[in-house]
Amino acid sequence: MKAYLFLSFLIAATPAAAQMRILDSTPHVDDPLTAPILSDPLGDLSPTRVSLLQGNTEKLGDGKYQPEIGQAGKDVIWVPTPDSLVKAMLTVAEVKPTDYVVDLGSGDGRIAIAAARDFGARATGLEYNPDMVALARRKAIEAGVAGKATFRQADIFETDFSDATVVTMYLLPSLNLKLRDTLLKMKPGTRIVSHAFTLGDWEPERSITTDDATGYYWIVPANAAGRWAFEVGNERFAAEIGQQYQMLSVARGGSLKDGRVKGTQVQLNRANGQPLNGEIRGDQMQGRGWVATRIRTGG
Ligand SMILES: C[S@@+](CC[C@H](N)C(=O)[O-])C[C@H]1O[C@@H](n2cnc3c(N)ncnc32)[C@H](O)[C@@H]1O
Repeated sequence: MKAYLFLSFLIAATPAAAQMRILDSTPHVDDPLTAPILSDPLGDLSPTRVSLLQGNTEKLGDGKYQPEIGQAGKDVIWVPTPDSLVKAMLTVAEVKPTDYVVDLGSGDGRIAIAAARDFGARATGLEYNPDMVALARRKAIEAGVAGKATFRQADIFETDFSDATVVTMYLLPSLNLKLRDTLLKMKPGTRIVSHAFTLGDWEPERSITTDDATGYYWIVPANAAGRWAFEVGNERFAAEIGQQYQMLSVARGGSLKDGRVKGTQVQLNRANGQPLNGEIRGDQMQGRGWVATRIRTGG
């Protein structure tokens, strides 16, 4: 905690020009811990930054291995998510015992362990550094959740995690972007929570702010794009629906204006102010008093 506070002070004391450089390159980053990571053009391990982070008095590691905040990782250094944000991220994602949570780059395992211990979920951490994997496994045993929180030594970019119902991550903007297409291909309704970094122009459903840090939350949208034949009460009409992430646009669609998808739930707004709410299942969407069938898939 001391390190987080000190870093806040450091940012506040940074000359305006340097702050602008941080803001220019990282428009969504308001996390005092991670902003300096990105502002450092030499990489993540400038001696000043690492020594500041190492002032953290939190108990890290165990008798067998003590990782250092800022230590190198394959694609990004290790910096742990503060426990307050771990809890908030899993709460916002509504993690429950039926969920399977995968943390991409799991470090000391704190997110997967919390998902199992505090939310009853099954969880896996994927981590490249074998020492961190071993540490996370010992921590899971210590927390009494070794059967539910497991850890695999793996490269997140070469591992299939498509069976996750919740994905968590604390990586870097560029790595998030590299993962975005994979995430968008996951089952509609899969929840994604990222500490500090966004997914480019894919707008989050919401942001999560704690005293220590910020996170972002998305839900993988069902595919609603294409030409649909609608039956709404006695009305019959066709509509072209365009889609960018969760946002829908409508062309030539009678009274339909635009809409939004949240997992498999769809809301289509109409000129009369009474939206059509329903569910998308493959090439069918339907709600109370209306049904639509996809007659051509969209681009
Ligand atoms: C910023 S830390 C986040 C740790 C943890 N998720 C948390 O929030 O506390 C990122 C972690 O990703 C790991 N990592 C970096 N590149 C990776 C890769 N390609 N595959 C798996 N893990 C990776 C690092 O070793 C580090 O432990």
